Amino acid sequence: MNKIIVLAFLLMPVTLVFTNGKDSVKENPIQSSSLQKSKAAGEKVYKKFCISCHQADGGGVPHLTPPLINTSYVLGDKETMIKILLNGLKNVDIDEESYSNPMPPLGSVLKDQQIADVLTYVRNTFGNKAAVVTVAEVKEVRSKIKK
Ligand code: HEC
Repeated sequence: MNKIIVLAFLLMPVTLVFTNGKDSVKENPIQSSSLQKSKAAGEKVYKKFCISCHQADGGGVPHLTPPLINTSYVLGDKETMIKILLNGLKNVDIDEESYSNPMPPLGSVLKDQQIADVLTYVRNTFGNKAAVVTVAEVKEVRSKIKK
């Protein structure tokens, strides 16, 4: 329950920035500039490490690679998404579709900052709107996995 409240508060400024356009960007310059910075860095990571499978428009490839547009994973719990990047994913149905390709683990390829940036990019591109992912959150999930 607490988590939901915290998440709602985290999402609020982001939602405001997007729904109110330029006015609220002016009101909240720090939030929006850190989002823009992380998105820009994340776009580079996406083009290097994700685009070959998930495609430039995030649409994926039918029956092979799932889309990154409004899926329950992309808009959902950050920890689950971070884990998918660190450990990969195999034989899991995504929003009732099955995909025959596996997603490779990228935990040893990507740094925590790159994971935070690419997830922030994906969660705020392709029509998605979800809270930013921070490097501290990636570090926490990585340390839990190591134990
Ligand atoms: C080699 C191809 C490949 C690459 C590279 C790849 N993925 Fe995936 N990804 C997949 C496949 C296949 C699945 C689904 C696996 C399954 O069905 O169990 C998936 C699943 C996902 C999911 C969860 C399902 C969804 O669509 O919401 C997310 C989020 C995701 N990938 C993000 C990324 C990001 C971000 C990158 C780049 C850092 C990336 N992937 C790189 C193939 C890939």
